[in-house]
Amino acid sequence: MSDRWIDACAADDIEEEDVLGFDHDNRAYCIYRTPDGYFASDGICTHEDERLEDGIVIDNVIECPLHQGRFDVRTGEALSAPVCVNLQTYPVRVENGRVYLGLPAAE
Ligand code: FES
Repeated sequence: MSDRWIDACAADDIEEEDVLGFDHDNRAYCIYRTPDGYFASDGICTHEDERLEDGIVIDNVIECPLHQGRFDVRTGEALSAPVCVNLQTYPVRVENGRVYLGLPAAE
């Protein structure tokens, strides 16, 4: 359960099989739209310091633009080398045409 729901973007801002970068509190996130719906994750690859928003989304998978590591955006699971650490994912809610990112309470 999330303690904070952050308004990230309009649902229409993201095409299907695409990704949008979103910065909040000096942290990068990605919002994805796939055939299964909307998903969210950290915006930086777990391999090196690369922004995933410049990557390619195919079906439910994001491919990192730097070394083509792949993650399942629904679960954050690292799918192929060189990535071996899963991506942190976050709950998403779509309401009244807006996409909300669910974050834990601020520390
Ligand atoms: Fe993403 Fe290397 S930085 S796969």
